[in-house]
Amino acid sequence: MERLDDFITLTAGNTSLVLACGIGSRPSILYWGSRLKNTDPALLQLMNTRQSAQGGTDTVVSASLLNETGSGLPGLSGFSAHRDGRSWASLFKVVSVEQPSESEVVITCDDEVTDVRAIHLIGFNPDSNLMTCQTKIINRGDDALSIDWCAAASLPLNPKASRLFGFTGRWSDEFHIEEVEPFMGSYVRENKSGRTSHDSFPALLACGTETIEQSGPSFGFHLGWSGNHRVRVDRLSDGRAFVQLGEYFYPGEMQLAPGDMYTSPVLYAGFTTRGLSALSRKFHYHLRHFVMDGRINEKPRPIHYNTWEAVYFDHDLGHLKKLADAAAHVGAERFILDDGWFGGRRDDKTGLGDWWPSLDQYPEGLGPLVDHVRQLGMEFGIWFEPEMVNPDSELYRAHPDWILQADGVEQVPFRNQYVLDLTRKEVTDYLFEHINKILSDHDITYVKWDMNRDINHPGSRGRPAVYKQTRVLYDLIDRLRQEHPAVEIESCSSGGARADYGVLRYTDRIWTSDSNDALDRQRIQRGASHFFPLEVMGAHVGPETCHITGRRLTMKLRVATAFFGHMGMELNLLEEVPQDIEVLKKGLELHKKHRALLHGGDFHRLDTPQHVNAIGVVASNMDEGLFSWCNMTGHRETLPGRIFFTGLAQDYKYRVRIIWPAPVVSTTSPSIIEAADLIDGGCVIPGEALMRVGMQVPLMKPETCLIYHLEKV
Ligand code: DGJ
Repeated sequence: MERLDDFITLTAGNTSLVLACGIGSRPSILYWGSRLKNTDPALLQLMNTRQSAQGGTDTVVSASLLNETGSGLPGLSGFSAHRDGRSWASLFKVVSVEQPSESEVVITCDDEVTDVRAIHLIGFNPDSNLMTCQTKIINRGDDALSIDWCAAASLPLNPKASRLFGFTGRWSDEFHIEEVEPFMGSYVRENKSGRTSHDSFPALLACGTETIEQSGPSFGFHLGWSGNHRVRVDRLSDGRAFVQLGEYFYPGEMQLAPGDMYTSPVLYAGFTTRGLSALSRKFHYHLRHFVMDGRINEKPRPIHYNTWEAVYFDHDLGHLKKLADAAAHVGAERFILDDGWFGGRRDDKTGLGDWWPSLDQYPEGLGPLVDHVRQLGMEFGIWFEPEMVNPDSELYRAHPDWILQADGVEQVPFRNQYVLDLTRKEVTDYLFEHINKILSDHDITYVKWDMNRDINHPGSRGRPAVYKQTRVLYDLIDRLRQEHPAVEIESCSSGGARADYGVLRYTDRIWTSDSNDALDRQRIQRGASHFFPLEVMGAHVGPETCHITGRRLTMKLRVATAFFGHMGMELNLLEEVPQDIEVLKKGLELHKKHRALLHGGDFHRLDTPQHVNAIGVVASNMDEGLFSWCNMTGHRETLPGRIFFTGLAQDYKYRVRIIWPAPVVSTTSPSIIEAADLIDGGCVIPGEALMRVGMQVPLMKPETCLIYHLEKV
C-alpha cells in the first residue's frame, strides 16, 4: 500500500492497482496490471495525458470510477439516476478516502447538486490477488431517487487486452465462450430471466493477441449475482474502453427513499500475465477460500446417486429402494431423491408448493426410504423448488395472490408454473416452515435447490422486484442453513442457470447442466472451469443413450467425464448391463482414491489441437497430477498428437501411467503404452520433458478419454 497525497496504490502478488483519488477530484483508475515497483503514480498520470482532438470536446473529459452522467463522457455512464426526471446528471467528487486495511480502499464521493453519495469499495485479496469492487449509493436528498443503472465499477480495459470473450449458452448447453469480433461501440448482454441465466453467464474474459491457456496477459470479470444483470464493454471512438457489470433494473425498480442506500453486487476481477488457466486458478482460489464458507472443506465430496433420470415422476418405494441398493453396490455415498416426492406431483403440471410427502407414493412418509438409504450407509438428499408454485396445487388454490405478476399482463407460460413472491414475508415464512419441517423430521444432509423457469413478469404489488426477490432468496437459503448447518445445498436451475459467486456464498455446489451427454459435458465443464473449480461442479454419469441429445456414449467416456467434477450418477442402474456396472464401479473407486487431489489441486486447461479437450489438476506441492485427454472427434492427422503436461516441477521426476480406461488398449500396437509401460510400471520422466517435449498420445477411437496419473518419484 502506498499513499502519496492524491494517489493510492494497492499491490497484491504481481499486480498493482493505482488510483487517483485526491479530495475534490473525480476518482479514477490510472493503472491495473503487472506490478510496478519504481513508477511514481504522478508519472503514471503524466503518461496518461490525453488531449483534445479535432471535432471533439475542447477540454479532455476524463474517466472516473463510474463515468457518471454528469461527467459528459460519451459512452454509457456507470451510474444513471434521477428524481422524477430531475437531478439526472450526477458528478461525483471525492470527499474522503479511507483504508480499512493495506489492501482495501473506500472512496466516498458526493454530488452536492443531485444530493447523491457514491461510495466505492475496492479491495485486493492479498491471498488470491483477486480484486473486488462494489458501489454503494446513498440518497441524501429529500425525495425519492430512481436508479436506472449502477455498475459495480466502470473499469478501464487495459489496451493490451484487445481480444474479448463473452459467455453464451442455452438450456443443457451452458458456458459457451464466444469471441467478440473487434468493434468500436458497445458489446452488451442483458439478462432479464430473473436468475443468473443459461444464456448470459455474467462474466467476461479479455486478453492479448498472444494469450493462450498457459501464457499471456489475461483479465477476467464476474458479477456475483443471481438476478438480472447487464454486462457491457464500451469502446469509445477516442480509443478508451471500459468494462461495466451490474444489476439490470426494470423501470422504477430501484427507488431509494431519502436516506436509503443501494449496494451493488460484487464484481470479481482478476489479472495475470500467465494465461487463461492461471487466471482461472486465481478465481478458484478466491471462491474456495473467500466466497464459500469452508464448512465442508475437510469433508470429501460424496459420490451422488440422483433419481431424476432413473424414475422422473414415477416414484415407487420398492423400486427406489432397489435403486438405492444398486447405488450403494456401485459405490454411491449419497442418495438424492429428486422431483416427484411431494404433494400431488405426478407430472410437471401439479404439486409445486405443496412441500409434504405425497401420500399416494409415500403412505408412511419419507421415513422408510430415508431409513433404508441410511442403513445402506449413504447420506440422504432431497429436491425442492421453493420459489415455484403450480396453479394446480393446494398452495395456489389457497393463495392465488402469492405470485409475481405484472398488472394487466398474461403470465408467460413456462413449465406450468408461476413464481412465488418471496418479497412477502408470509411466503418466505411458509417456505421456511415446510422445508424446515422436512429437514427436521428426517436425517437429511443435502438439498438440491432448483428453479425451473425465468421470471418474465417479476411484479410485486405493482412494481418490478427481481432485486428484492434475489436478496430475499439469499436470506431464505441462509436462514435454513443457519438452522441446519450440516445440510449442504446445491444451486440448480434447470441445470446451470443459477451458477455464480453470489449464490455460492450460501450454497455448496452447482448443477452444471442438465445435459449428462459426456461429450457436451466435456465442453460445458471446460467453459464453467474458467470460474468454477472441479469440486463445485456437479457431474453425473448418465445413461448410455443420453435422454437429452439421444447420443450413445460408452461407460468409459461417461465415467472419465464425470470424474473431473463432483462426481455422481443419474441413470437407471437396474437397466445397465453388468459389464458397464463393473466399469462404473471401478471408475467410482478411482475417483474416491483421487478426489482429494481433484477437489483441492490446481486446475489447468491444456492448449491442444481442436479435436481434443484436455485438462489437468496438479497438487499444490507439485508431487502429483491427473490429466485427462479426450478425443472429442477423430483427427485429421493419422495420430492424435502429443500431450504437453503443465504445472509440474521442472526438476522433479514423475512416474507416468494411464489409469483410465482400465485396461487401455490402443487401436494399433505396439504403441507408447507398451513402449513406455504406461499401464503397469509406468515410465519415469522429468517434469521438464513432460512439459517441454510432450508425450505422444496413443491412437484411440474418437470419443475416447484417457486419464494420466503422474506421481513424483
Ligand atoms: C431441473 C433439474 O436441472 C433436473 O436435474 C431435475 O431436478 C429437474 N429440474 C426436476 O424437475
